[in-house]
Amino acid sequence: MEALKGIRILDMSHVQAGPTCSQLLAWMGADVIKFENPVGDATRGQLRDVPNADSLYFTMLNCNKRSITVNMKNAEGKQVFVDLLKKCDIIMENFGPGVLDRFGFTWEKIHEINPKIVMGSIKGFGSSGPYADFKAYENVAQAMGGAMSTTGVPEGPPFVTGAQIGDTGTGLHLAIGLLAALRQAERTGQGQYVEVAMMDGVMNLCRVKFRDHQRLTRQALTEYSVPTHQGMGDVPRAGNDSGGGQLGNAIHCKPHGPNDWLYVVVQEAVWEGLANRIGPDLDLPSLASDPRFAKIGDRRKNQNDMWKLITKFAEKYSKREFMAILNPLGVPCGPIMGTEDLANDEHVRGRDMWVELDHPQRGKWFNVGMPIKLSASPAVIKRSPMLGENTDEVLKSVLGYDDARIANLKQAGAFSVPPKKAA
Ligand SMILES: CC(C)(COP(=O)(O)OP(=O)(O)OC[C@H]1O[C@@H](n2cnc3c(N)ncnc32)[C@H](O)[C@@H]1OP(=O)(O)O)[C@@H](O)C(=O)NCCC(=O)NCCS
Repeated sequence: MEALKGIRILDMSHVQAGPTCSQLLAWMGADVIKFENPVGDATRGQLRDVPNADSLYFTMLNCNKRSITVNMKNAEGKQVFVDLLKKCDIIMENFGPGVLDRFGFTWEKIHEINPKIVMGSIKGFGSSGPYADFKAYENVAQAMGGAMSTTGVPEGPPFVTGAQIGDTGTGLHLAIGLLAALRQAERTGQGQYVEVAMMDGVMNLCRVKFRDHQRLTRQALTEYSVPTHQGMGDVPRAGNDSGGGQLGNAIHCKPHGPNDWLYVVVQEAVWEGLANRIGPDLDLPSLASDPRFAKIGDRRKNQNDMWKLITKFAEKYSKREFMAILNPLGVPCGPIMGTEDLANDEHVRGRDMWVELDHPQRGKWFNVGMPIKLSASPAVIKRSPMLGENTDEVLKSVLGYDDARIANLKQAGAFSVPPKKAA
């Protein structure tokens, strides 16, 4: 049986941060009703690769959901919303600040309608504080949560990371909060409001950088490959440094293309074996006892020289060949894998992390699979719904509306695109 079977979610979320959360919950078996603006989630039409088909941006974030379109600017549409609220365990949204309040549905009102319902809300900066009124996208959150200032090299500009820590990272945080609140509601009969700000989520993911921020008040950061000193304030960008107590770096390998790199961690325990393996090839047979690198403190101090030696050794090998040399020595390492590598990787396919699906508008396509593996209830991934595909079905099966009532509601504009605001 699916872990969340019987849990129904009224999912008003759009774009990425909310949908990534509700997709995970759907993969765990929740009945997720994607409650869409009749114009559709904006991502349906963004970055389209197949004309007139839902984009991959949409399909990859909205699997295993049912789509219903309801006009929240129409009295009958709002009544459908209220009826659904009474039938759901969770409502979630990630509108810009104040949108739901403007519809007339504050948390207090929602709680009054269904005291047991749990409400999840993602905002760029939360509902309090000087930034509360601002909208946010992924990179705004990366900029303001500490990720960008600590990514890149000191002499270059700050960089965003390819991992969607602002959107998907926040969605993960929300999923945890919703499940905890759901557990409490089961015990007490009372729902609660679960808020995750994207900026807070990014700060949480940058936790070790704030460790270093505080260490800087007392000392230099000796494991950093870039210069640091006590009292310097900001944690510097430190390229591909490991960020932990063990030294690490990306080593360029043959044929020296953009992804021909192996990330290598020179764990304290493996230095001697590593030095004995690479030393002779570098005409340094006693590298293991070389005083520049003998102890971890020496290697920290002289790490740039150590990386140069390891890079020199790696010149003759591809990243996979170098990995094959390091694995038996117990050196933690991993090749930098491109998206093409990953889409074709046997390990990835074997773990159902690159899943082929079909779609009526676009044919065959792939989704990244479910990263959380539940032994008794593995995820079965189903394609995303088309806009409003399940409107009638949900109105009948969840709300018990009959055909005549649905026809009247349609006539009244409950499911239609709201008229444009006067300019
Ligand atoms: C992502 C974001 C910047 C997009 O901004 P936006 O496109 O202006 O969208 P908003 O959420 O602010 O507004 C949605 C609009 O659709 C309307 N709408 C939404 N659902 C509707 C429905 N079912 N019926 C009628 N209208 C609807 C809202 O009323 C609002 O219009 P209004 O401004 O006239 O009130 C914004 O939603 C945001 O900051 N969200 C919180 C942070 C977040 O999640 N960001 C990451 C997204 S990946």
